Amino acid sequence: MRSTPHINPTAPIAPTILLPGDPLRAKFIAETYLEDAQQFNAVRNMLGYTGTYRGTPVSVMGSGMGIPSISLYAHELIHEFGCTRLVRVGTCGALQSSVNLYDVVVAQAACSNSAFLDQYQIPGSYAPIGSFRLIDDVVRRAREADVPIHVGNILSSDTFYNANPTFNEAWQRMGVLAVEMESAGLYATAAHAGVEAVGIFTVSDSLVTGEATDAQARQTSFTTMMELALPLAQL
Ligand code: HPA
Repeated sequence: MRSTPHINPTAPIAPTILLPGDPLRAKFIAETYLEDAQQFNAVRNMLGYTGTYRGTPVSVMGSGMGIPSISLYAHELIHEFGCTRLVRVGTCGALQSSVNLYDVVVAQAACSNSAFLDQYQIPGSYAPIGSFRLIDDVVRRAREADVPIHVGNILSSDTFYNANPTFNEAWQRMGVLAVEMESAGLYATAAHAGVEAVGIFTVSDSLVTGEATDAQARQTSFTTMMELALPLAQL
């Protein structure tokens, strides 16, 4: 199989790929949720695996942090390795008081302060959105399982630490639910290629209350998120 600057596959890559930020999280997901998982990538320790979930092939690979990182992996996965359904699974910080720690957030759309979209030379401002088909499926199953879920706009920020003290307020004022650092790049890369993408998150901290999650409870909410994400491979 051919290789790219960042992926040197030693096993097949499935059309559906889950993208946690942390490569060790990808390893954990492969070992915990997939059957017959084989490692396909180790370049820069960005571990990737392919296995099956209820008989359907699924891959999982770290995306790294930030729009530049997830977007270069998404680009190579789509254009060189045939991925058509990219599912970011990660954590986010709540920007609204209605969004509680451990809730699940699905990014209907992703705002950003990144210049990533400039490359497309769009004569206006493009709104990066998730695949309605994937969002709809996640929401339907979350409702059936009584899982608290928020669907709406999120912020994919280029800054984890922002020097502007009013930065969060401006996004809060527009009803943006939560902040993370990748989805706008993933959504734009997928849209430009005509493939499906969605971002599903658990709330790991609140920028409203300053609370953060503890490790034990984080594991439970992680499981909830994974149980919503994995069946997307079977759509
Ligand atoms: N900011 C940015 N990204 C994040 C956060 C946050 O507070 N929490 C989880 N991912």
